[in-house]
Amino acid sequence: MKKIILVFTVLLIIVGCNSPKNYSGKLSVIDLKVDSILSLMTLEEKIGQMNQYNGFWDLTGPAPNEGDAANKYNHLKQGLVGSMLNVRGVEDVIKVQKIAVEETRLGIPLIIGFDVVHGYETQSPIPLAESASWDLETIKKSAEMAAKEAAAAGINWTFAPMVDISRDARWGRVMEGAGEDAYLGSLIAKARIEGFQGDDLSKSNTIAACAKHFAGYGFAESGRDYNTVDVGTSTLYNTIFPPFKASVDAGVRTFMNSFNELNGIPATGNKFLQRDILKGKWNFDGFMVSDWGSIMEMIAHGHAKDKKHAAELAVNAGSDMDMESYVYVNELKTLIDEGKVNVTLIDDAVKRILKVKFELGLFDNPYRYCDLEREKEIIGSKEMHDAALDMAKKSIVLLKNDNDLLPLKKTGQKIALIGALASDKNSPLGSWRIAAKDNSAVSVLEGMQQYNENELVYAKGTDVSIGTHNFASEVKINTTDKSEFKKAISVARKADVVVLVLGEVGFQSGEARSRTELGLPGLQQELLEEIYKVNKNIVLVLNNGRPLAITWADKYISSIVEAWQLGSQSGNAIAQVLYGDYNPSGKLPMSFPRNVGQVPIYYNYKNTGRPGPKKEVFWSHYQDEKNSPLYPFGYGLSYTTFKYDNLQVSNVNNNKVNVSVQISNSGDVKGKEVVQLYIRDEVASVTRPVKELKGFELVELKPKEAKTIEFVLTDKELGFYNNEGAFIVEPGTFKVFVGGSSDKTLDADFEL
Ligand code: NOJ
Repeated sequence: MKKIILVFTVLLIIVGCNSPKNYSGKLSVIDLKVDSILSLMTLEEKIGQMNQYNGFWDLTGPAPNEGDAANKYNHLKQGLVGSMLNVRGVEDVIKVQKIAVEETRLGIPLIIGFDVVHGYETQSPIPLAESASWDLETIKKSAEMAAKEAAAAGINWTFAPMVDISRDARWGRVMEGAGEDAYLGSLIAKARIEGFQGDDLSKSNTIAACAKHFAGYGFAESGRDYNTVDVGTSTLYNTIFPPFKASVDAGVRTFMNSFNELNGIPATGNKFLQRDILKGKWNFDGFMVSDWGSIMEMIAHGHAKDKKHAAELAVNAGSDMDMESYVYVNELKTLIDEGKVNVTLIDDAVKRILKVKFELGLFDNPYRYCDLEREKEIIGSKEMHDAALDMAKKSIVLLKNDNDLLPLKKTGQKIALIGALASDKNSPLGSWRIAAKDNSAVSVLEGMQQYNENELVYAKGTDVSIGTHNFASEVKINTTDKSEFKKAISVARKADVVVLVLGEVGFQSGEARSRTELGLPGLQQELLEEIYKVNKNIVLVLNNGRPLAITWADKYISSIVEAWQLGSQSGNAIAQVLYGDYNPSGKLPMSFPRNVGQVPIYYNYKNTGRPGPKKEVFWSHYQDEKNSPLYPFGYGLSYTTFKYDNLQVSNVNNNKVNVSVQISNSGDVKGKEVVQLYIRDEVASVTRPVKELKGFELVELKPKEAKTIEFVLTDKELGFYNNEGAFIVEPGTFKVFVGGSSDKTLDADFEL
């Protein structure tokens, strides 16, 4: 602590004012302080700030060949480390922070990063599931809770939100994003950033957020993680960039670049992305961290000839912090001596990093986030679990309920609960759940046992996977063992209703979890068909981290519930929805394909020169499958029904358009509906999609209640980016569509 006091004494003389507790709105004071510290630093110490090491415990990337614990420890002592990731828990954070603060020359505190992706210890639903709620307030609250819990464990920085748009369910990381749409994705990015960062970053319950992965990572060819990305300019500006731009506008303090290349240049060494767009055009004043080892990986990409070259390319392109490549700390000094890197770029990077440390209040008190009492009180508290349950219920999407099997009757029923996932307490925790306790989620079985006036019989049916897995291990799927089929079939035969819980285990989605098939893994499809032979009253509950192709189920099973991986409170949320204590209102944030061959599939496609259907064969279609998805973007049912009437467009002037629609609850129970507005710019200098989401409102209605919903479309909604990256609005004919799904809408025209 002595060093910090020494630095502050120097600072106070230089800056000439007291260190304010809350820096928001006083960036210039921080800038002066940052400059003062910078003037005290040696080149080695500056480079040290740009160096980030993994801790000594969890591993969220490939194990490095160099940088063993002893080496890292020495660097830490020498002031050659600016940040650590995967150090968690107050005790451990204090251990490393103490070295930085008390044993290094200047005592500059570390910034401690962690993947707080869908909760810290208490898990919220996976982000894709949360996005299905379309409930920005609750999503913000979920991030707020995650920040509070993580901050109580000594963490000051999350590597979230992932704002990559993706249209490819084969890519395992769709679970971590907000789905396929840039408009929805931008609003969710903002909500999550505001939730994590709050209104004052220096508070001990807020943490810095990180918009990742900049850019294009969600467009990996064939959905194979880390694969090459090849997208056109229009997609880059109109689909990939918007959530990142929205993140900058929301004040996100850090960015992470991506593993992929873009136009042949890896994102980590991509100057266009980092310096021209992000720090130039968008004026981002936070810092950019590389992804795990991504600087060094430019060698494998065939872009850098060696580690030194990789460091040169990355720093010149605008990557400020090196996560686990060890090349900044080892190579930057030589590169500067050789004149290959200008020291002003180092100064710029360090200033950005120090600024965020100041904003977090770490210079005021490096142990601000380290309070053992608070840690005990907050982590896993009722407040966390209540919020996780609320978010989980709102994330569930009712896909089918043809015969009104749902909600289940609460008494007098014999219910067969079948499926290994029904009793699984680990899978609902999802993939990014490093700080969660294994097997700590409420299972569907436990959730349904709360409703004890029915007879509930459980049978596993079949294991989805074999053995146990973790974040770094491959999941092995059971493709042979049917020994439990018989028992499950017999239990199903005697039941009034069968609840079948099928889908993916938690680690089947997430980083490096791509799939070429999108059906139910292993023997689950066979189990479903066998059960159907003996009992048609089936409610299928899906637990999965990505859209699945469940065409058979859609044809034969009358009730289907999309329950994703819903986190710690999963089973309670599912049971409350099944029994009608919560009326589902989720809408899909990603299209569900009929067949994996349709992927990438998304609602906002282009019309092509040969739309159909046509009499002859010469139109854009498949011989063996429809073009449309099984369930489209924006789709989701309720236990009630909604009716849309009277779509009106008025006041079309000054590029402002008022749209109104009447919605009424035409069913018998209270329910929530996401009223969605889409537009189509019919003729444009760069072709526009057949539909684009440009507004939505979540409305709750009592039975027979009606409301008029109003939307205002301005330039922001009516324009688009041209191929020079300029945002333009073109006059002409537009269509507007309003409804409860991207495919079921009223429509009207207007002229701009
Ligand atoms: C690699 C992932 O791509 C990134 O999202 C994550 O934040 C880092 N590993 C650190 O765990």
